[in-house]
Amino acid sequence: MKLDSLIPAPLRKPAKPGEGNGSKNAAPADLKTSPPERPSDTERLTDKAKDAPADVLAWVDQRTAASGFLTGMLYRKVPKGTNWFYTLGSAALFAFIVQAVTGVFLAMFYTPSPTEAYASISHINNDVFLGQFVHGMHKWGSSLMVILIFLHMGRTFFFGAYKYPRELNWVIGVVLLILTMTMAFTGYLLPFDQRSFWASVVGININGTGPVVGPYLSDFLRAGPELGATTLSRFYAIHMLLLPGAIIALIGAHLYLVVKLGTTAPPWVRAEKPKIAAPVSQLDAGAEGNGAPPPR
Ligand code: HEM
Repeated sequence: MKLDSLIPAPLRKPAKPGEGNGSKNAAPADLKTSPPERPSDTERLTDKAKDAPADVLAWVDQRTAASGFLTGMLYRKVPKGTNWFYTLGSAALFAFIVQAVTGVFLAMFYTPSPTEAYASISHINNDVFLGQFVHGMHKWGSSLMVILIFLHMGRTFFFGAYKYPRELNWVIGVVLLILTMTMAFTGYLLPFDQRSFWASVVGININGTGPVVGPYLSDFLRAGPELGATTLSRFYAIHMLLLPGAIIALIGAHLYLVVKLGTTAPPWVRAEKPKIAAPVSQLDAGAEGNGAPPPR
């Protein structure tokens, strides 16, 4: 099984004469003049080893049929005129992955208790190998992720990508933004120093001023009459279990819709094309990405 066979036929490189895989073209050009040399045992073993990754992929594919989905996703058509602004969504995704990976390592050393939290973070920064680096990546990465999401949101807004049929993806994006900000808010308390303590008191009180649900929300976040040990463990559980789970699920739905509906062409490319309204079922995975309104 060669890696080549996983690539859809129309995208495969045409075989050169004399090259191939057992088809008519496979015989070497000079077959008539000199007999083919038999490969040595070492050569045969090396060839087998080279094919091993493709064989494993084929084994998994036979049992999951994942290659259909992957080729559909990786070889999907994108409209003309896409540019660097279209990478902001993937950059936000990368920032989230960095947060998740660094967060796992921090969780190995962090203790969510009012008396030990600060000491455990000092230990990470001062004693653990690469601890300060990983902690720094997580701390600065959180701001970077929020900035990237805002820029990505700006791109989708100014390119009109929130319009039919992508309204639901916009709404999912808004929920992702809220959850990411909640991640940043709950993470801020975790060092449990003076700054994080009082910033969280202020944040919880601001939540309490919201209409109808505000007071319930601040009571839920404080987890008691005063900010203390239960608040810290509640924030930690929300920060490292509840929110990452919800964000992963929503990013999955977000990307599913991106692949299903295709990418919106930039407004200046759309302006060149006649606007043809098409129902979602007939959209060719964004080949045109005309973003035209539905028929009235
Ligand atoms: C964790 C946060 C987010 C991640 C990881 C993410 C990821 C992505 C990716 C990878 C794409 C496809 C590439 C691209 O167009 O940039 C995309 C498209 C899109 N995203 Fe996001 N996104 C996030 C948040 C948001 C937010 C906050 C909004 C808006 C409120 C949003 C709205 C959209 C829309 C409408 C599209 C379709 C764009 C088009 O058709 O051209 N996303 N997102």
